[in-house]
Amino acid sequence: MDTTMNTVTNRVMPKIGDMAPDFEAVTTMGKIQFSDYAPDQWVVLFSHPADFTPVCTTELTGFAKRKAEFDALNTALLGLSIDSVHAHLGWIQNVRQNTGVLFDFPIIADIDMKVAKLYGMLQPNESETAAVRAVFIIDPYKRIRLIMYYPMNVGRNMDEILRTLQALQVSDQYQVALPLDWKSGDKVIVPPPRTVEEMNKRLEDKTLEKVDFYLAKKDLN
Ligand code: BEZ
Repeated sequence: MDTTMNTVTNRVMPKIGDMAPDFEAVTTMGKIQFSDYAPDQWVVLFSHPADFTPVCTTELTGFAKRKAEFDALNTALLGLSIDSVHAHLGWIQNVRQNTGVLFDFPIIADIDMKVAKLYGMLQPNESETAAVRAVFIIDPYKRIRLIMYYPMNVGRNMDEILRTLQALQVSDQYQVALPLDWKSGDKVIVPPPRTVEEMNKRLEDKTLEKVDFYLAKKDLN
């Protein structure tokens, strides 16, 4: 990488906990207003650098093949790249012809880069014209709950996207935290005590798997 070319970028980037910025966009399934998109569902909004490129083809094929798992988690997919809807349609048809896999979710044609800029997907030291590989997990209240940014040359990990989505949902439903490498069915972390009284109670609790009062796990259900 030519470090002399680096510029310091000082853009406002979306952050975890922010309301997802609203936008109107043209997609492969018609126009959408994001605030009205997939009401009462979680949304995984993800960008790819360009249609008809190899890593992106593997990634969108991965999203398409595992769409049923996102459906099962009450989650709608929404792709994006800075390409025209015509390019998207040509690529969708090409992949379907070559592999039999249909990209069965809307892909935003963000040719004016409006959405990419709103979501910090344009990272000029990586590319001035193409979005990086971003993933935004957005909850049913349209709040951003998790952000991943990957560079051009490194594909994402679908297991990790599904794992973190499920972890957020479990954390919300049961008011627990999830440890390193947690996956569905593993023990969960109960919130640490906040007072001496709670700490004493925790020390006496025989139902939990405890390392110490501040690190205690339990089975869900
Ligand atoms: C790819 O998807 O293979 C790719 C796209 C843009 C830049 C580098 C790689």
